[in-house]
Amino acid sequence: MTDTLIYGPGRTAIKLQINGQEYLLDVLPIQTLAEILRNQLGLTGTKVVCGMGDCGACTVLLDGKPVYACLQLAIDCQGRAITTIEGLARDGELHPVQQAFIAEDAFQCGYCTSGQVLTLVAFLADHPDADAGAIRQAVAGNLCRCGAYPKIVRAGLRARQLTFNSKQ
Ligand code: FES
Ligand code: FES
Repeated sequence: MTDTLIYGPGRTAIKLQINGQEYLLDVLPIQTLAEILRNQLGLTGTKVVCGMGDCGACTVLLDGKPVYACLQLAIDCQGRAITTIEGLARDGELHPVQQAFIAEDAFQCGYCTSGQVLTLVAFLADHPDADAGAIRQAVAGNLCRCGAYPKIVRAGLRARQLTFNSKQ
């Protein structure tokens, strides 16, 4: 006999910790984190492009590590710290990686941008001396169909010099 928690098949109450705030939610066990963020909470900075773990547009941080929110069941994210692009700014100031993306004009359509930024926030926190090659590798799981990679890499390099005063 195990203590496995069984949810569903109907709606179930869960608690999620998102951007430092606790949310009580009523979800179906099959709903993904991306779906709940966008459709129930209006946090539409998390983009869904492929919806199947191929593109990285839906990247959020789970306990500080990048994950594809379209592959995470919301019920499995209980007890974890979830950070979305809406949670990066502090006291009205954008995170250094966000500032660097603006300074380097590192986007075109912007669909991949929140995922790129969150991936680099996590990566640069652990690798503050990363070179261009390492930054390029770090965002390899975030597909940019507009081909903005040269500027995305430059933004990563620029962000290293900025103060990580809002490090996640
Ligand atoms: S939308 Fe999640 S990986 Fe593409
Ligand atoms: S800026 Fe359009 S997909 Fe990257």
